[in-house]
Parts: sequence; C-alpha cells; structure tokens
Amino acid sequence: MPTATATRPATPFERIGGRDTIHQIVERFYDLMDSDPAYARLRALHATDLAPMRTSLAGFLAGWSGGPRDWFEANPGRCMMSAHQGVRIDAETSAEWAMAMRDAIVDTLGATDPEMAGALSDVLEQMARGMAR
Ligand code: HEM
Repeated sequence: MPTATATRPATPFERIGGRDTIHQIVERFYDLMDSDPAYARLRALHATDLAPMRTSLAGFLAGWSGGPRDWFEANPGRCMMSAHQGVRIDAETSAEWAMAMRDAIVDTLGATDPEMAGALSDVLEQMARGMAR
C-alpha cells in the first residue's frame, strides 16, 4: 500500500516499495539485456561486467523517483547526457533500452501496481527516446 505523511503524498519511490523494488527492476532489466537476443545491440554497448551498472542504475533510479539521493551526491553535476557521453545511442538502441525497462518494470510491478508500472515505463521511455542522436 502507498505510504504518505499527513502533509504530502507518497513519492513514487515509497509507493512502489523502495530500494527492494528498484533493485528487482534493475536486476531484471540487466538480466533481460544479458540474455534476450532482442537486446543484443544494447548489450554490446555495455562493458562485459554489468555489476557496476546494476549498482549505478539502482542508485540513480532511487534518487530520481524521490528516494535517497546518494547517487546524485556521489556524482555531483552528472546528468543523463553527461553519463552517456561517448555512448553511441541511436533510435534502435534507445528503443531497446525502453523496451527492456518496460518489461522489467511490468514483470516486477505489473501485478501489484499496474498504474504506476505504466507511468514509470512511459516516462523512462520518453527519457530514453530523448537521448537518441
Ligand atoms: C537510451 C538508451 C540508453 C543506452 C543505449 C544506454 C547505454 C549505457 C551505457 C553503454 C552505459 C555505460 C555502461 C558501461 O560502462 O558498461 C550507460 C551508463 C548509465 N546509464 Fe544508460 N543508456 C541508455 C539510457 C539510460 C537511461 C534512460 C537511464 C536512466 C533512466 C540510464 C542510466 C544510466 C546510468 C545511471 C549509467 C551509469 C553512469 C555512471 O555510473 O557513470 N541510461 N548507459
């Protein structure tokens, strides 16, 4: 159930279940990317070892969704464009990212909170599409 204080509604981070849920989404996302041939081009852009990315993306998503901001404090001034400098993102790899993330979110959250699963997937897809050059 969503948690809220008397003065403000629950953040998306609180509503979905905090770090545990974020970690599940991120694990599923990279497991899909690592195993499903549909994401082969996206996988090829990443380093062999995905462990650092699992930690980094989970930290980013926690702060971005209204939770603890340790990733932003550890990476002052880093934005999504600067984090991807030198990564060749085109329409196809951006669509692969958005599709893998939607699958990961729906697999994790679709049964318990389909409304939030759809909203998060939509906004992350827009972000990914905006990064294609
Ligand atoms: C649009 C398609 C995207 C592609 C193709 C892509 C690809 C990549 C690649 C290749 C890296 C470096 C990984 C490595 O060194 O192994 C990276 C880093 C990262 N990406 Fe993406 N990415 C995309 C979109 C996004 C989006 C939308 C987000 C956030 C919602 C995101 C979050 C991150 C984070 C947090 C890092 C780590 C930055 C760091 O720790 O320095 N990416 N991405």
